[in-house]
Amino acid sequence: MNTPSPQKMAATVPDETAVSDARQAARDAQSVDALRETLSSFEGCNLRFGARSTVFADGNPQSDIMFIGEAPGRDEDRQGLPFVGRAGQLLDKMLAAIDLDRTGCYITNMIPWRPPGNRSPTPLEIELCRPFIERHVELVEPKIVVFLGNVSTKALLGTTRGILSLRGTWSEYRPNNDTTLPALPTLHPAYLLRNPAQKKLSWQDFLSIRDRLDRISA
Ligand code: URA
Repeated sequence: MNTPSPQKMAATVPDETAVSDARQAARDAQSVDALRETLSSFEGCNLRFGARSTVFADGNPQSDIMFIGEAPGRDEDRQGLPFVGRAGQLLDKMLAAIDLDRTGCYITNMIPWRPPGNRSPTPLEIELCRPFIERHVELVEPKIVVFLGNVSTKALLGTTRGILSLRGTWSEYRPNNDTTLPALPTLHPAYLLRNPAQKKLSWQDFLSIRDRLDRISA
């Protein structure tokens, strides 16, 4: 369980200071392991105090592809790993359908702590977590990025357009001024569990991912 230090609980840190602390902490991390450590001890985002785990990532950081979801749910919070509940099981099936598993891809979330009751993260929580996911992408250096659902798509592509209009179209993601990565927004597996008829759209997106990966390794 993440527990706050007494000093942090007592202090009220202004939002801009908290965001700039997050940026500095993320920038200082020089490896994926260091970033994991930094996030585990970061106390600038209140979400961590209601969560059991800091859910960092799963899969292979050497792989060409990085999936970025929204935030851990109950199962992920309990196990400390992303996408291990029902949505994660569906994601695993979708990956298997294009010959991928967790040894051949890397999976993380926009937000590493479970929001209480699985509510949507607030704009401030997203801003506090953004420096960490940007640094995470920089350090992993994937060849392509896939955004699972609205939250990571909107936050990282900087758009207000919804996932249903953006999905399936490759776009460019810039984790910093020197890097541009091909990025595909697609539907979140939890949305597909609620709307199974939309799986055909995801299938198109996953075929497009397979095609990109094949072209990268050709
Ligand atoms: N939904 C997400 O976005 N991420 C998880 O890890 C689990 C469910």
